Amino acid sequence: MASSYPLFLSSLLLLISFCHAQSSFRPDALVLPVRKDASTQQYVTRINQRTPLVPVNLVVHLGGQFLWVDCENNYVSSSYRPVRCRSAQCSLAGSSGCGDCFNGPRPGCNNNTCGVFPDNPFTRTATGGELAEDIVSVQSTDGSNPGRSVTVPRFIFSCAPTFLLQGLASGATGLAGLGRARIAFPSQFASAFSFRRKFAVCLSSSTSSNGVIFFGDGPYNFLPNIEVSQSLRFTPLFINPVSTAAASSQGEPSTEYFIRVNSIRINNNPITINNTLLTIDSQGNGGTKISTVNTYTLLESSIYREFTAAYIREAAARNISRVAGVAPFDVCFSSQNVGSTRVGPAVPFIDLVLQGQNAVWTITGSNSMVQANDNVLCLGFLDGGSNPRTSIVIGGYQFEDNLLQFDLAASRMGFSSTLLGRSTTCANFNFTSNA
Ligand SMILES: *[C@@H]1O[C@H](CO)[C@@H](O)[C@H](O)[C@H]1NC(C)=O
Ligand SMILES: *[C@@H]1O[C@H](CO)[C@@H](O)[C@H](O)[C@H]1NC(C)=O
Ligand SMILES: *[C@@H]1O[C@H](CO)[C@@H](O)[C@H](O)[C@H]1NC(C)=O
Ligand SMILES: *[C@@H]1O[C@H](CO)[C@@H](O)[C@H](O)[C@H]1NC(C)=O
Repeated sequence: MASSYPLFLSSLLLLISFCHAQSSFRPDALVLPVRKDASTQQYVTRINQRTPLVPVNLVVHLGGQFLWVDCENNYVSSSYRPVRCRSAQCSLAGSSGCGDCFNGPRPGCNNNTCGVFPDNPFTRTATGGELAEDIVSVQSTDGSNPGRSVTVPRFIFSCAPTFLLQGLASGATGLAGLGRARIAFPSQFASAFSFRRKFAVCLSSSTSSNGVIFFGDGPYNFLPNIEVSQSLRFTPLFINPVSTAAASSQGEPSTEYFIRVNSIRINNNPITINNTLLTIDSQGNGGTKISTVNTYTLLESSIYREFTAAYIREAAARNISRVAGVAPFDVCFSSQNVGSTRVGPAVPFIDLVLQGQNAVWTITGSNSMVQANDNVLCLGFLDGGSNPRTSIVIGGYQFEDNLLQFDLAASRMGFSSTLLGRSTTCANFNFTSNA
């Protein structure tokens, strides 16, 4: 009882600061560019942070817990504030740790601050970091163009040491967590601007033109005037009760996005899958997640075997002949008998039959085939091993030029299947500002 009053008071202050963020102009949605890094295949976005504002490049982690940035090197800001122990922000972050730092004060090193565990999912490394707040600025959008910039004066994030950047795309100085956590981007933007906890990701397949991330509701307009939000199909999101982060405390659920694949069809023929693998058990094993950490989809070994055998069979029926694998792919084909279509190479379609009515996600040649060289196309799916934590991890390549909408309030995911079929791409958002 003794501690509830200060907690209430600081919640109130937090609320006031969120209201302050709205000032006179309240955006309906926000927009961020996202580019594909050619050497790592990671997806990199950019925000403005600090006082004075500087651009900060961040690798996108769809299921990540929060924003973390390197504060050890070159973090200069007059508006940096450490988050104090036992404050409302501290509990919003789910932090239980509280600490002092003896080499400060400086950003990332202050006394009486609460700590979290920033993690690098590419190297599976986590470390302790100081929770902090600083100003973040992003562009609003009407769904067709970026508009005027808006700011969140006290955006919560974690500081991290420079070494945690290892394995991230060159130029990136942190990670953008878009997961389910209360301090991940979708929730902080939603509370700052009073819109739904909803966001959409549309990754470009090209390393030379940007894809887009929207926070808030649609419309999502792509040139030449294709509005995508009206034609989404939906499937429920599932919560994995056990954290999938590199460091976590017991009882913490995963902040990643899980869906239910009920079956997989190749050229309309379902493959045999052990159903147990498709559901998440009480230890958090099994099921299907969507990830920007993996470039190519991983399938648990028994699923992978059935899947590739069926694919090779269907390809052979079309006179598409198998050739030697090209690492990391085992299953490759001669491109000789493969025509080209609007939705990529003319190969058998893959359907992910998801939970829900009409919830069939069709993966066409554009997202199943990887061009290994002039004459060889490889099936862009990899063997995930025989006892993986998650049976199916849908990787970034499989949803490039697809729009995926995550609605945390309604607990569902909307998906478009390939936009190439609608004669547009994720690189077709008009980034010319109309502010
Ligand atoms: C933290 O407090 C200790 C004393 O408990 C002090 O020696 C140290 O300088 C302080 N560090 C910072 C960053 O203020
Ligand atoms: C299905 O998968 C589960 C989990 O890996 C395993 O325990 C079970 O033996 C499998 N069933 C069959 C028929 O292979
Ligand atoms: C496959 O090739 C054979 C022999 O070249 C031909 O007879 C057959 O029509 C081809 N089938 C398809 C589906 O193209
Ligand atoms: C992109 O948006 C700008 C600003 O509204 C507009 O002037 C321009 O014509 C648009 N580009 C295309 C290709 O429609």
